[in-house]
Amino acid sequence: SKKIILDCDPGHDDAIALLLAYGNPDIELLAVTTVAGNQTLEKVTHNALAIAEMAKITGVPFAAGSVRPLVREIEVAPDIHGESGLDGPVLPTPTLTLDERHAVSLIIETIMSHPPKTVTLVPTGALTNIALAARLEPRIVERVKEVVLMGGGYHVGNWSAVAEFNIKIDPEAAHIVFNEKWPLTMVGLDLTHQALATPDVVKEIAAIGSDCSQFVIELLDFFGKMYKQAQGFDAPPVHDPCAVAYVIDPTVMTTQKVPVNIELTGTHTLGMTVADFRHPAPENCHTQVAVKLDHHKFWQLIINALKNIG
Ligand code: BDR
Ligand code: CA
Repeated sequence: SKKIILDCDPGHDDAIALLLAYGNPDIELLAVTTVAGNQTLEKVTHNALAIAEMAKITGVPFAAGSVRPLVREIEVAPDIHGESGLDGPVLPTPTLTLDERHAVSLIIETIMSHPPKTVTLVPTGALTNIALAARLEPRIVERVKEVVLMGGGYHVGNWSAVAEFNIKIDPEAAHIVFNEKWPLTMVGLDLTHQALATPDVVKEIAAIGSDCSQFVIELLDFFGKMYKQAQGFDAPPVHDPCAVAYVIDPTVMTTQKVPVNIELTGTHTLGMTVADFRHPAPENCHTQVAVKLDHHKFWQLIINALKNIG
């Protein structure tokens, strides 16, 4: 099985990423950590625990992390995720309590206590916690198996013309994470804008008929309305589970090796993930980007995970 740490800011699509990770039999979820992003740390952490309650997740430590980006002021996304960060469904009151450690400590301790190259980091929010972990314990860079993150886009932006939200809100953290030499897969908007929750997908999820599937339907209903309003999408792109899906089954998407760096000074390009496609990637290139999604395979993974959770 594949051991992962999910670092997230739930968030409608983060919630579905968590359910996919928990419900898929090939994933061993070692820890869930939270970071300010879609909403304040307090709100997204509450949401993470509420999702755990709803899906009856037990035996997985949850820890709260960074309250704000490394350098910039905090920026949240109520126009996409609502005031709570997870508007739509009624959230159960969490009974699970948080791990007492800071997310960054939990990430480091989890990686260092497992054999080398066995733990995959899956960040689906700003990269603040991951950057801090790499600075606090540099040995994790060699030790992790890989980083598979949702963020960026080599040709697409959503928080500016050329920058994606997770990268744009903490570009300095992204700079750290993209420049450490761990194998890194960027599952960006180029890919996730193919992961649309189309009406036929929604129908198939509804047909499962469980509390969990009903929860996802209510999430997608709100998310879909917001995406229509804010960005003109007919069906919402469900970004974050794409990163988890890649860990489960890399054949769910095609990837291309390419050097990627983060723009930190541009007037109009702050937070852009600049991918250099001019030449074949050099031998030592440690980054790759996701290109093409197998839509059917992706949604079957999600549907099967929801069925497993029951
Ligand atoms: C990313 O930003 C957040 O709003 C989503 O949860 C996703 O991680 C998409 O740009
Ligand atoms: Ca997210």
